[in-house]
Amino acid sequence: MSETKKKLTLRSAQWFGTQDKNGFMYRSWMKNQGIPDHEFEGKPIIGICNTWSELTPCNAHFRKLAEHVKRGILEAGGFPVEFPVFSNGESNLRPTAMLTRNLASMDVEESIRGNPMDAVVLLVGCDKTTPALLMGAASCDIPTIVVSGGPMLNGKLDGKDIGSGTAVWQLHEAVKAGSITMHQFMAAESGMSRSAGTCNTMGTASTMACMAEALGTTLPHNAAIPAVDSRRYVLAHMSGIRIVEMVREDLRLSKILTREAFENAIRVNAAIGGSTNAVIHLKAIAGRIGVPLELEDWTTVGRGTPTIVDLMPSGRFLMEEFYYAGGLPGVVRRLGEGGLVPHKDALTVNGKSFWENCQDAPVYNDEVIRQLDNPLLADGGICILRGNLAPRGAVLKPSAATPALMQHRGKAVVFEDFEHYKQRILDPDLDVDADSVLVMKNCGPKGYPGMAEVGNMGLPPKLLAQGVKDMVRISDARMSGTAYGTVVLHVAPEAMAGGPLGIVQDGDMITLDCRNGKLDLDVTDEEMQQRLASRAEKQQPSHKTGYQQLYIDHVLQADQGCDFDFLVGSRGAEVPKHSH
Ligand code: FES
Ligand code: MG
Repeated sequence: MSETKKKLTLRSAQWFGTQDKNGFMYRSWMKNQGIPDHEFEGKPIIGICNTWSELTPCNAHFRKLAEHVKRGILEAGGFPVEFPVFSNGESNLRPTAMLTRNLASMDVEESIRGNPMDAVVLLVGCDKTTPALLMGAASCDIPTIVVSGGPMLNGKLDGKDIGSGTAVWQLHEAVKAGSITMHQFMAAESGMSRSAGTCNTMGTASTMACMAEALGTTLPHNAAIPAVDSRRYVLAHMSGIRIVEMVREDLRLSKILTREAFENAIRVNAAIGGSTNAVIHLKAIAGRIGVPLELEDWTTVGRGTPTIVDLMPSGRFLMEEFYYAGGLPGVVRRLGEGGLVPHKDALTVNGKSFWENCQDAPVYNDEVIRQLDNPLLADGGICILRGNLAPRGAVLKPSAATPALMQHRGKAVVFEDFEHYKQRILDPDLDVDADSVLVMKNCGPKGYPGMAEVGNMGLPPKLLAQGVKDMVRISDARMSGTAYGTVVLHVAPEAMAGGPLGIVQDGDMITLDCRNGKLDLDVTDEEMQQRLASRAEKQQPSHKTGYQQLYIDHVLQADQGCDFDFLVGSRGAEVPKHSH
């Protein structure tokens, strides 16, 4: 009797648990896959949400990963069902993978709710796949565990390590400055990406893998184990076992993704020198699960935290060394021993607290995971800026910036959009020097559309040739997590949404003051109002797709996480009506 009762509490029993026309239909078509009767007798059905795609090279090894998750699920007495969702790879997808993060999240949400599953394993890797799947799952709130694909092995060039993305930016600047040949530049292509996996720098993929672990949605060490290390597949297997137990414990995502978990994640982001993209993605995930999170939380919780993970682009090493040095649990232990883990008792998917998972974690290499009193940067985190140029905020990553430029006043050199930038930056007569501030408009969520990673504008070739390495750059765009520089991003509201960024003119003076969190255009209020009133409306891009129009009409600004207005919130996983 109690067995029967247990069966009936499973969500999937509303598909497979009845001896009638509907039960017949749901089971019969599944049986065309060679599934015997007993699989339908009350076993927890576990969805494996797979972002495998050969067009998302970072996730191209995910069918093998899924096989290992299945082994764990079967061992624990569950019934695995793997399903594909929209896979948005960072490297191939144009105009930007960010444009389809929300689309993928809708796919995930509707796939989970509409199908017979009691829990879900999210297979994530490349940048946007992690937030997209967590957003979709958060809107359903069933037991959920994240398994990341893991980073690539270290890139190699001329006997030295090179990091994904970061090497591209560095080598490209070196070619433009004439310090390396085009032949050397091209030789880096093969050596940089020489194994399965995600970018091996602390870019957005590694950052979001660390965020998923810090939020408690993964087993310990998920973030850093290399993609090709067999321990990655053991972790996938163990995650499969664990998700079946989570069904029995009814350990839903909302019990993991609490306000406390997000505060832990913000603190960890500062310690790892994580990507600015995390600001947008964490806000979007928090919005789905109903946790309040504001830009200022990055200041109050994150700032003042030392960056102790010495990885590119901020530092020297790569994800392989990070794992061998102790991975994220080692970082959390260091933070916790310094009193820097805000919520040690936050619950994680293995049923233990965040601190229980990390309190005994060894650190094997103090250069890669540095001591708190010998950090890469004493005051890491994300600098949140506000002012008349960014009334709803902007961000800057101090660990990737030049300290001397973080307090700076300079003359604006303005680009109306990305195309204008590309053409104008090459002009040998451009009135620009090392103190100028490069300003680019119309690259935000609505403007690009999709808020592409173009904010780290390459410097004018004539200044590169003079040896200039960094300048202050400001835009409503994002920046790749693998990039670096004194780059102000996510200016909100964006120019296309009527933000003051749109009225900056060549020669205006701009003050950046990271210490006080200020970003100001030095014009009077009257001048500002007059320019805003008389500005010409920027035309929307002319050839939009249907989805792009939906995106432009409904995307929220960067400070709100760029989710669609109609997707914010958790809608639960109530079983929909029958289909016949
Ligand atoms: Fe996929 Fe960097 S391009 S993780
Ligand atoms: Mg990226």
